[in-house]
Amino acid sequence: MKCAVILAGGKGTRMKSDKPKAMCNLLFKPMIDYVIDTVREIGAGDICVVTGYKHEVIENHLDSDIKTALQEPQLGTGHAVMVARDFIKAHTDDDILIFYGDGPLMDADTVEKAYKYHKENNNSITLISALADDPEGIGHIKRDENGKLERIIEHKDATDEEKKIRESNSGCYWFNGKDLLYAISNITNNNVQNEYYLTDCLEILIKAGKNAGAYIAENNEVILGANDRKQLNDLSTIMRRNINTSLMLSGVDIPCTDGVIIAKSVKIAPSTVILPNTIILGDTTIGLGCTIGPNSYIENSEIGDNVVLDNCKLLDSTVENDVDAGPFVKICNNSVLKKGVHIGNFVEVKNSIIGEGSKSAHLTYIGDSDVGSDVNFGCGTVTCNYDGKNKYRCSIGDRVFIGCNTNLIAPVTVGDKAYIAAGSTITDNIPEDALSVARARQVIKENWVNEKKPCKEKK
Ligand code: UD1
Ligand code: CA
Repeated sequence: MKCAVILAGGKGTRMKSDKPKAMCNLLFKPMIDYVIDTVREIGAGDICVVTGYKHEVIENHLDSDIKTALQEPQLGTGHAVMVARDFIKAHTDDDILIFYGDGPLMDADTVEKAYKYHKENNNSITLISALADDPEGIGHIKRDENGKLERIIEHKDATDEEKKIRESNSGCYWFNGKDLLYAISNITNNNVQNEYYLTDCLEILIKAGKNAGAYIAENNEVILGANDRKQLNDLSTIMRRNINTSLMLSGVDIPCTDGVIIAKSVKIAPSTVILPNTIILGDTTIGLGCTIGPNSYIENSEIGDNVVLDNCKLLDSTVENDVDAGPFVKICNNSVLKKGVHIGNFVEVKNSIIGEGSKSAHLTYIGDSDVGSDVNFGCGTVTCNYDGKNKYRCSIGDRVFIGCNTNLIAPVTVGDKAYIAAGSTITDNIPEDALSVARARQVIKENWVNEKKPCKEKK
C-alpha cells in the first residue's frame, strides 16, 4: 500500500503570516490542499499530516479521514517525521511518501514516475530532485565522481563549491517503511541550524548498504517551494500560466491572460472566451461558446452554453444556456437563471429562481423570489424581502409585467399575466390577469407656479 506523511509543522516565519505556512493561499487555496490533492491522486491509502505551529488551524481544515501528529517544538524536518513514528510503525511493510507542505507544484505524474523508479530499483529511499535554475536556499544533491548519490547538503551547511550544485532536493521522497523507521532513529542535529534534517536519511541508508536513488523530475518547476510571499507569487504565476495554457490547448479562447486567474478545479468547454480580469474558482463548470468577463468573479457555479457574463459576480449559482448578464451584476446564494434570461446593468439576484426568458434590464433587486417565465421587471424594481428580523419570499407567476420602480413587499404572490403599474408598492397578493395600481393619484394644481412664485425671477 502507498501512504503519505505531509510535513506542515513549520511556522513559516518569512511569510509573516498569522497562519501556519502550509495554510497560506496559492490561487485562493491553501498550499496544503494542493499537496493533499496530489497525495490522493497517487492513491495514498493512509495520510498523516504533521502539525505544529497553530496546529488547530490545520486540524480544523483537514478532512476527517486524515490523521495528524503534533510536533512541539519544531526541531526540523527529520524531527517532524519522528513525531509521526506511530503512523510509520503501522506501515513498515508499505511505501511511504514524505511530502513537504510548502511544495504545491509537485504533481502526481512526477510522484508516480518516481514511485515506479523506486520499485524497479528496489530502493529504500528515492528522492525527487531537479536541476534548479536558482539553487539558493535549497538542499544540494552531492554525488561522487561516478554520479553515485552520496548525501544532501543544506545550503546553509554547504561550502562555496557545493552551493554551485544545481541538482536540488524537492522535499518529496519515497521510503520503504521499515528503512524509514531505521533512518529517523539515527538522525542527529549536528549542523549549522542544530536541526534534525530529514535529508540525512539519504546518507544514513546509503551507509547501511541500502539502495538509494534520485528521480530527476523532467520539469524543474515542480520542486519549487514557497517560503515567503514573493516565492508564493512566483508559484502562483507558474500555476496560473500552466492552467491557462492547458485550457487554451483544450480550445478555450483567452485572447489576453492579464488578470485571468482560473483554479485547477474549474472546467471550461471549448470555444468559450475568457476576457481579462476574470477570476474563476472552486467547483465551477462553464459550457461551450460563452463569453465570460471582462472583470468577472465566479465561484462554485454552473454555467451552460452560449452564456454572456460581462462584469458579473456569480457565486454558488446556476446559469442555464443562452443567459446574458451584465454589466455590474451580482448573482448569488443558490440562484438559478433559467434558459434565455436577460439580466442587465446594476441588478442583483439573490437566492432566487428566474424562469425561462424573463428579463430584468436595469437597476433591480430580486431577492428570495420565485419568478416564472417571460416576466418583465421594470427598471428599479425592488423585492422588499426583509423586515429587519425575518426574510420572506415573493412569488411571481409567468408573463407578469412589472412597471418601473415597483416595490414588492414580501411575502406576496403575483398571479400569471398580471400587470403592475409603475411606481406601485405592492403589499397584497395580485390575482392572475389583473392590473394592480398601488400609488397615490396624481393631483394637478393649475397655474400654481405663477401664484406661488417658488423660485427667484430670472434677470
Ligand atoms: C527543505 C529541505 C531542502 C529542500 C527544500 C525543498 C531539509 C532539512 N531541507 O528545506 O533540502 O531543498 O526543503 O523545498 O529538509 N517542517 C515541519 N517541522 C519542522 C520543520 C519543517 O513540519 O520542524 C515542515 C514545514 O512546515 C515545511 C517543510 O517541513 O512544510 C519544509 O520545511 P522548510 O523549513 O521550509 O525547509 P527548507 O529550508 O525549505
Ligand atoms: Ca521550504
